[in-house]
Parts: sequence; structure tokens; C-alpha cells
Amino acid sequence: MAFDVDAIRDDFPILARMVNGKRIAYLDNAATTQKPAAVLDAMREYYENSNANAHRGGNALAEEATEIYENARKKVARFVGAAPSEIVFTRNTTEALNFAARFCAGQLGAKRILLTEMEHHSNIVNWQLAAKSAGASIGHVKMRSYGKLCNEDVEKQLEKRPGAFSFTHASNVLGTVNDADALCKMAREAGAFSVVDGAQSVPHMKVDVHEMGCDFFAFSAHKMLGPTGLGVLYVKKELADKLEPIFGGGGAIESVMLSGTTFARAPQKFEPGTQDVAGAVGLAAAIEYLEKVGMGAIEKRVEGLHKACIAGLKEVGGVHVHGNGEKTGIISFNVGRLHAHDIAQIASDDGVMLRAGHHCCQPLMKVLGASATARASFYLYNTEEEAQRLVTSVKRAKKVLS
Ligand SMILES: Cc1ncc(COP(=O)(O)O)c(C=O)c1O
Repeated sequence: MAFDVDAIRDDFPILARMVNGKRIAYLDNAATTQKPAAVLDAMREYYENSNANAHRGGNALAEEATEIYENARKKVARFVGAAPSEIVFTRNTTEALNFAARFCAGQLGAKRILLTEMEHHSNIVNWQLAAKSAGASIGHVKMRSYGKLCNEDVEKQLEKRPGAFSFTHASNVLGTVNDADALCKMAREAGAFSVVDGAQSVPHMKVDVHEMGCDFFAFSAHKMLGPTGLGVLYVKKELADKLEPIFGGGGAIESVMLSGTTFARAPQKFEPGTQDVAGAVGLAAAIEYLEKVGMGAIEKRVEGLHKACIAGLKEVGGVHVHGNGEKTGIISFNVGRLHAHDIAQIASDDGVMLRAGHHCCQPLMKVLGASATARASFYLYNTEEEAQRLVTSVKRAKKVLS
């Protein structure tokens, strides 16, 4: 079936927005994606017809809300190849990675943590905090050249026997996709738990956490057409069964006495308090939408847009692209000595929404030798015409700013 981008665009009300008298070209999808009407409708429908407090039963509506929430969990689990009891809802990837760090450095006793130089701050600061309170040390795998992890350094660092190895599946700056299966296997063989940041991979490719062999895997609904405020932490069953909750409260318990508490089974024990049922409904609707279009078709489409955009930028002259984000639709670039923020500002004046800055990756920026980059990131609703508009804006920026 041909990829009908016009029909897809019609599903996203915001894409008709005008900014500065121009129709927006939304190229900031790595930051957050837009939401199709199907997601907005599903959330509205839930609030209008079924809203109650999930897992606080005793009335028909609460039971319905519980069923809706758990059905959403099943859908999420199936989408990433997990069992429902291995799926913990969080607020976002950041919170999920903070949980994973505290599980590993705290309860699982990791005294050395291995990260990489290409991590998002969400996968650096969490470990620094967890390592500090557990008295653990942190090492970092080096990058060989733009966008590639140095495999020899992974091996060398794993010889130091870290208790946990955490890395990004896909870089939000470079778009590079790391070989998560191989890295998890190496971690396992070295006796380290593996924690994978999937914020930029799950929206773009078929992920199967069991096949990958990771222990923890994190991602966010808002980067894959779902709502903000909902994230996911996959916790491998053996670990989910044995780990203790980090936060305690209502809904996560079996029984509470003044002398102590016994906890519910996973995943409920990790989800105290009232949960974001509407968010889970939104994520389930987003998954349905992505599956309807097809993850393979999305991947191909995004690769095509990436190629077209790179070809256009090459013609501008003086554009340096960092890494290769073909599969994730990410293009981070600098133009000569022009400041990335100025490029993004001029593009914004043209209605083209980019991101400029360090992208929450200051250590990576240091490796790249740049204080900031401009970043375009594509998703299924973008068009070749929008890629061309970006190229035209970059040309204009070069002319105005040089
Ligand atoms: C690779 C990566 N990890 C983690 C995050 C954090 O995601 P969130 O802000 O949804 O917690 C992001 C967000 O941009 C990201 O790109």
C-alpha cells in the first residue's frame, strides 16, 4: 500500500497551524511528537464515559477504568515484546531511568556503573545521584568517531566488572542506533545488568525487549504520538518479582500494618497512588495508530525524508552534519561559525520548527567540539516539501547571518 502522507496529515489537527503567517513545518519530533485525533478522541472518550480511579474497585465504573488501564498495559507490552507484568507506567523516560538507576545502584548492589559519552542528561544525572547515595563509581564508554561507540572500549570497560551498563538505544543528537542486542549480551556475559534508554528508538523501529535481552528498558509516550506525562519502564520478570518499590503508598500494597507493609505483585507494587489512566489510554491509541500505518513503512518513510534533507543541505555548502540519523530521522548540524540558535530563529520565522542547543547532552557536545547544534527531526507526517523548506531556510540563514 502506498504511504498516503496527505491522509496521515489530516489526522493531526495541529499541522494546519500557522506561525508568522506560514503553515508550520514541524521538525522537532525528537523533542516531542504531535498527536493524531485518534489519541485525543480516545482520551476524551475515556474522561467522558469511563473515568474513575483504576485499582480502587468497589463500583462498576472503577472496575471499568481498571480494565481499560490494564488493557492499555497489555497493548504496550505486546508492542515491545514484553509481558504485561513487566510494564511499569511512569511519568516519562527520565523517571523510568531514575527508577532503574536506583534499583541497580541500590537494591541490586552495583558498585560500578558503565555509561557512554552519548547519553542524554536523563541517563547521566540519574546515575550520578544513585551512585552517590550507594557509594558507586561511574565509567564511560568512548565514542570512536561521530556517532559510533567504540566497541573495543566497551570490552575494555566491561573488564572492570561494572554491576550495570546503561546506554541509549538511539542518540537524540546524532540519531545513531546502537546495537542494543549485542551490547546487552556483552553486559550479561560480564555480569552487569543492562539498562536501555529507548526514548528515540521505540517511536521509529520495531523493538522486542525479550529478544534484546535487556534487564530494563525506558521510553516516553509523547515521543510516539501519545500524551505527555506518561512513560514506561520495562523490568525483566525475575527482577520485577524481587525488587522492592522505591515509592510507597496506596494501591501498591497487599496489606499495611502500623509495624510494616507487604506489597502487591509487580507491576502494581511500583505504581503507588492514582495512576494516569487517560495517559495510558492515549498511549494505547498511539500504538494502534502506529501499527495501522506500520512500523516498517514509518521507518522507510523517515529514511527517505532524511536522505532528501541531507542531499539538500549538502548543496547549501558549509553545512556540517553530525552523525547519521537515517533510521531515526535526526539531523544535527552546524553551518560554518553561525550560531545554532540564530539558524533555528530564522527557520522559525519561516515557519520551520527546529531545535537548537545542547539537546540535554552537554558531555556529547564536548566530544563533538560544538557548544550547540541545530537539529531537525522527522516523523511519519513530514513531507519532502518540508525538508526542502528547511534547506531554503538554512540558505537564507547563511545569507542573512554571514
Ligand atoms: C535519548 C533520550 N533519553 C531520554 C529523554 C528524556 O525523555 P523525557 O523528557 O520524555 O523524560 C530524551 C528526551 O528528549 C531523549 O531523547
